[in-house]
Amino acid sequence: MNDKQIVVLVSGRGTNLQALIETTQNGYIPGKISLVVSDNPQAFALERARRASIPTLVLDYDSFPHKRAYEDALLQVLEKEDPQLICLAGYMRIVGKRIIMRFRERIINIHPSLLPAFPGLEAQKQALEYGVKISGCTVHLVDEGMDTGPIILQASCPVEDEDTVESLSERILQYEHQIYPQAVKLFLEDKLNVIGRRVFIKKE
Ligand code: GAR
Repeated sequence: MNDKQIVVLVSGRGTNLQALIETTQNGYIPGKISLVVSDNPQAFALERARRASIPTLVLDYDSFPHKRAYEDALLQVLEKEDPQLICLAGYMRIVGKRIIMRFRERIINIHPSLLPAFPGLEAQKQALEYGVKISGCTVHLVDEGMDTGPIILQASCPVEDEDTVESLSERILQYEHQIYPQAVKLFLEDKLNVIGRRVFIKKE
């Protein structure tokens, strides 16, 4: 039953990881998190994983001589683990081409904007500075581009006149915690049909 494995890559506080922990543990997602990998030894996400008795691994980016060496180590770990799905959850690095090729259509990411608007870093700040009235979040498959892969789910929310980067980020985050588990569930239930850029959700 519960044999589908998910590896989660993190860099920071891990609230999206927490949402995935809770929804795998309560059975909403038909799978389990087999490993949490962090490129940052200080990430609070590691503590969240440990509290949930999930194995963790730190690949401290700064301890590698160059990006290729880091990617080699990460690829080796992922090949050994060979999960059905790799979830990026606040993972603040671009995944290298070799990993994407090896795990094509098995890596997904959550991004705090309505893509294709505001890819990359500080999406919420970009949205405020641009002056949009609606923002939100996107779960997408990861391809070689920066936040360019086929979109699985999106949720929108208003941008209020009084918003700061913090308040907007917090509002968007509430939606992230809903649509990320939803997307992971659909993926593991094999309900996604990817045709070109479009991801269709199979009907019952
Ligand atoms: C989330 O808002 C996530 O969407 C964003 O970082 C935050 C991580 O929070 N990711 C990106 O911006 C990726 N480009 P969390 O560590 O509490 O899940």
